[in-house]
Amino acid sequence: EVIDGKIEYEHVAFTYPTADEPVLTDVSFTVNPREKLAIIGATGAGKTSLFQLIPRLYNVTKGVLYIDQKPITSYTLDQLRGSIGYVPQSPLLFTGSIRDNIAWGKENATREEIIQSAKDAQIHDTIMDLPDQYDTRVGQKGVNLSGGQKQRISIARALIRRPKILMLDDSTSALDLATESELLRAIQHYHCTTMIITSKISTAISADRILLMNDGKVLAIGTHEELLNQSSLYMRIVES
Ligand code: GTP
Ligand code: MG
Repeated sequence: EVIDGKIEYEHVAFTYPTADEPVLTDVSFTVNPREKLAIIGATGAGKTSLFQLIPRLYNVTKGVLYIDQKPITSYTLDQLRGSIGYVPQSPLLFTGSIRDNIAWGKENATREEIIQSAKDAQIHDTIMDLPDQYDTRVGQKGVNLSGGQKQRISIARALIRRPKILMLDDSTSALDLATESELLRAIQHYHCTTMIITSKISTAISADRILLMNDGKVLAIGTHEELLNQSSLYMRIVES
């Protein structure tokens, strides 16, 4: 079981099983327990690929990935996925009620837990405005939800399991700044290690540290001030 949520990439390289060229090469960095790390970088830089190694959607090709000082391969997939809240870049809802979509993976969730995680994910008010509220069906023959609404239901689904590690892949891209900062504030109460991929520099600056990826490599990692001093690419991103 994951206890602290410390994450360590040690000379990690990764090549997709169907590809010839690696998408990650020699990636090394550490995320401390309960730290919030933002990941930024151009499209195709390898941000999502970096994320997918944590719930072991793919295995590392070279190097070692550690969770709480133990190689990730020493955990069972159930142990890992029970401790990790992973919100993918394109969240998937299944045909069924909103309630079931939020409680997915935690079938014994109480009504209070479902509502609390929806409130923290800033989607409760939207749900209450729907015809059948939490019983509203989504998917086939269900209501149409916007991309941002699906993202927030997917975040609620991750939060309800009280993850030790929370991974948000561009999950707040569709939110206005006020809603996003409410959401990030609510997440702080979960005291989990948080990795958040974002294209918004303001979101990145609100994290403890920022990791800048470029072409499958870690170009720089540090606080906003450190990166301004270290990386001309970072300075250009901030100024753009
Ligand atoms: P954005 O989400 O667009 O910001 O990019 P990203 O930084 O998340 O990049 P990502 O990790 O998705 O992709 C990095 C590289 O891996 C790109 O060259 C992709 O074409 C490639 N890639 C991504 N997913 C797959 C996959 O499932 N199979 C293969 N073979 N290549 C992939
Ligand atoms: Mg991506």
